[in-house]
Amino acid sequence: MTFLFNSDARRGAIFAKAFAEDLPDLPFAMDAAAVDPDAVRYLITWAVPEDLARYSNLEILFSIGAGVDQFRFDAVPATVKVVRMIEEGIVRMMQEYVALAVLALHRNLPAYLAQQRAGEWRDIPQPQVQARRIGVLGLGQLGQAVLDRLKPFGFPLVGWSRSPRQIEGVTCLHGELGLEDMLAASDILVCLLPLTEETRRFLNAELFAKLPEGAAIVHTGRGPQLDHEALVAALDSGHLSAAMIDVTDPEPLPFGHPFWSHPKIILTPHIASVTQPATAARAVIDNIKRHRAGLDPIGLVDRTRGY
Ligand code: NDP
Ligand code: OXD
Repeated sequence: MTFLFNSDARRGAIFAKAFAEDLPDLPFAMDAAAVDPDAVRYLITWAVPEDLARYSNLEILFSIGAGVDQFRFDAVPATVKVVRMIEEGIVRMMQEYVALAVLALHRNLPAYLAQQRAGEWRDIPQPQVQARRIGVLGLGQLGQAVLDRLKPFGFPLVGWSRSPRQIEGVTCLHGELGLEDMLAASDILVCLLPLTEETRRFLNAELFAKLPEGAAIVHTGRGPQLDHEALVAALDSGHLSAAMIDVTDPEPLPFGHPFWSHPKIILTPHIASVTQPATAARAVIDNIKRHRAGLDPIGLVDRTRGY
């Protein structure tokens, strides 16, 4: 039995140490070329390797990231469990990023940055938190965690998911029927949906039109969920006031793309949250122990849903 780590060597060294300490009976390998493919029971990777079929005894395919949209499920035998990354480092970083973005948009930072560049000293009317409603699309591990971090600020909070959820202090809506009410109640809309066929191009002109006048967007889901042209049009018309965008399609954006220089957009290069190796190794080790005990791993992906 072998665990194969297929990612960067720096994180691999931290995983190797944790495995040696906590799962000493499970050989840990980082060199796919040197491993006996029949011995590989567990593989962690970002993308599904072209030669996945050589690991004929694979039991679990772990994603090194929270998302699994980069996996081609049809290339993964049905007997193999696919598991996404659920670990406290990713959660904490996403809480930090979304809090940063929501506060920046709430306090008109994009407009103040534009004024600074223009040498303009002028205050902008400031709504108080009670009047700034925050909506979160996706109430999974990250959506719930960011809502929890936003609670102490006092913003009215609304969340949206596929199935019904109950979260204290958050108005929870779900499904197609709940979406319109959720959008109408979102002055700052945060996207934390996984990328699936249903969420591709989800942030489009029709959706923007359902947001209140002057609403702002935080996008930390996946690039293909956002219609870039529709966002620029909604910002230029004044219907949307600003956006903080962490994920785009493609990544990186080509030279000259309007997001690089748009005065109402703050752009970051897909850094909202990054898997932290020490806590991620802990989570993967715990999942292998669960699997060996006959339990489902935490973060088991439902392939029919796509997340
Ligand atoms: P989860 O799988 O835990 O949660 C997904 C949520 O989205 C669930 O609440 C789910 O509803 C909801 N959802 C999915 N599809 C739909 C739909 N069609 N309609 C309505 N709701 C839907 O995911 P995570 O919270 O762990 O992560 C979310 C995404 O964040 C990742 O998939 C990844 O793309 C992105 N991400 C981005 C990072 C970055 O650095 N920018 C870093 C890490 C993740 P239900 O509760 O009913 O299942
Ligand atoms: C992830 C990411 O999915 O980094 O973890 O986007």
